[in-house]
Order: sequence, then structure tokens, then C-alpha cells
Amino acid sequence: MAAANASPLKEICLSTIALTGSASGIGAATAQRLAAAGHRLIGIDLRNADVAVDLSTSEGRSQAVSAILERCGGALDALVLCAGLGAHVEPASTVAAVNYFGAVALLDGLLPALQKGQSPCAVVVSSVASTQLPWEKNPIGAALEAGDEARVAAVLAGAGPRAGHLAYAGSKNALTVAVRRRAADWGRAGVRLNTVAPGAVETPLLHGGLADPRYGQAIKDFVAPIARRARPDEVAAMIAYLIGPDAGFIHGAQFFVDGGVDAMMRPTQF
Ligand SMILES: NC(=O)c1ccc[n+]([C@@H]2O[C@H](COP(=O)([O-])OP(=O)(O)OC[C@H]3O[C@@H](n4cnc5c(N)ncnc54)[C@H](O)[C@@H]3O)[C@@H](O)[C@H]2O)c1
Repeated sequence: MAAANASPLKEICLSTIALTGSASGIGAATAQRLAAAGHRLIGIDLRNADVAVDLSTSEGRSQAVSAILERCGGALDALVLCAGLGAHVEPASTVAAVNYFGAVALLDGLLPALQKGQSPCAVVVSSVASTQLPWEKNPIGAALEAGDEARVAAVLAGAGPRAGHLAYAGSKNALTVAVRRRAADWGRAGVRLNTVAPGAVETPLLHGGLADPRYGQAIKDFVAPIARRARPDEVAAMIAYLIGPDAGFIHGAQFFVDGGVDAMMRPTQF
């Protein structure tokens, strides 16, 4: 219990949180929400961020880990991984590089710092697309899991017009699997780890897909049971909840923020 005359500021428990994709969309909305709650943010993005790096390259990922460690002094309370590219971006190998390797490298590189944090956790933004291509049928899953970027690029280069979809759904499927595979070790290490799987969210990434003649019509035609798209802040709210003290026993789980799409598409699988 705080003394009656203590400053209210002293009672706020400030966390240091690193967040990728901080410059736009879901990441920007999450950064804004967490900063408004008093947390200290380290934003990572290609530009307009505390740490400007390219997560599509292994050098960029190493630079990101080093810069975050330097800024947090080796102890990180939370890590939020939002950076990602849509299926319309070319080459498709870049989509897999950012969406999968750009997340997993930071998870693994920052686990020791998270272990030194207060009530530490990580939240990874996957997608409802992670369930569209099951692990057993994911043509890039094994290569992603093995860290074989050249093999991922080769498979996608031979996939013709399906490459963008395979890169996006395949990387998000493997990303959710990567989180679930880490649940046992991370739980023992005392660091919670979960994914959020959005459906369609009004962001520049979605609008890039809508403007692409290969994907635009299919995105427009696909209507969720809750017949609208999410606002970025509706996903940010779930991320903030998962970071917070009420989520202390939530670990290794995937939370859909998709207006009911997953329940509609896979009612018997959960
Ligand atoms: N918008 C949707 O409909 C939707 C649906 C499901 C999942 N998601 C996922 O949500 C996450 C956030 O996407 P968003 O919709 O907010 O998109 P967005 O384009 O608004 O934001 C993505 C951010 O990632 C950054 N980024 C991209 N490539 C990068 C790189 N090489 N290095 C560093 N940063 C890079 C971008 O600069 C951008 O700021 C992504 O992982 C995306 O796959 C989005």
C-alpha cells in the first residue's frame, strides 16, 4: 500500500516494451495505446522509428536485437512483433523473410533480455491466414523452421501466381507454429508468449492488397460474420490485454480478432 501522500506517478509500474512495425497500422495503434498507459516504447521499423532497420535481412535483424538490447539495458519487459508484409508484395520471398524470420530472430535473440524483465511476455501478430494452410500442407513450413531462407525463396520462385498467397499464409502458419513450439521452453523460462490472429484490418497493408488486381476482388468479396473490417485499435486492445497483469496464465495461445472468420471456416477445429 502506498503512503497517502505519495505521488500517483510513483504507483504506475512502467514497462519497457520493444515493438516492431511501430510506424503504421496495428503496430502504430498498439504503440499509441501502450505509450498512453505509461509504458516506455522502443519502436522498430524501416523508418520513422527509434530503431530504423530492415527486418527482411539477417543483418537488419541482428542490428535490431543489438539496438534493442542497448536501449533497454539488457532487461526487456515485453516484446510485440507487428512488422509484416501482405501477399501482394514482391518478391514473395521478402514476405516470408519479414513475416517469419523478422519475428523469430527477435524472439530468440531477445529471450535472455525478457528473462531479466518484470512479468515478461511477448505477443506476435500472426493472421487468420495462419489456419488457411495447415502445417502438413505448408510447402515452406519445413524450410522456414529449419532457417533455410534460400530454400524458402526457391520454393516460392517456382510457385508461379500462387507465390504471394503461399508466402503470406505459409509464413503466418509457420509463425504460429514457431510460437506454439516455444511454449514449453518459454513457460519454464518464465516468459509468456502468445499470438494474435487478426482478420481484415483497415491498414495500409490491407489497402495494398485491395489495390492489387490479383487479390483485390477476393478480399472485397470475403465478408466476416461481423460484416466489417477491424480498426487497428481493436487489435491493439487485445495485444495490450495480453501484455497486462490480467493475462498472467495465458501462454502459448492464439487469439483471433477476426469478426468470426475462423469459427465460420473451421467450426470443428480449435
Ligand atoms: N491489416 C490486415 O488486414 C492484417 C490481417 C492479418 C494480419 N495482419 C498482420 O498485422 C501486422 C501489422 O500489419 P498492418 O496491417 O498494421 O500493416 P502496415 O503496413 O500498416 O504495418 C506494417 C509495418 O511493418 C513494417 N515493415 C514492413 N517490412 C519491414 C521490414 N523489412 N523491416 C522493418 N519493418 C517492416 C512497415 O514499415 C509497417 O510500418 C502484420 O504482421 C500483418 O501481417 C494484418
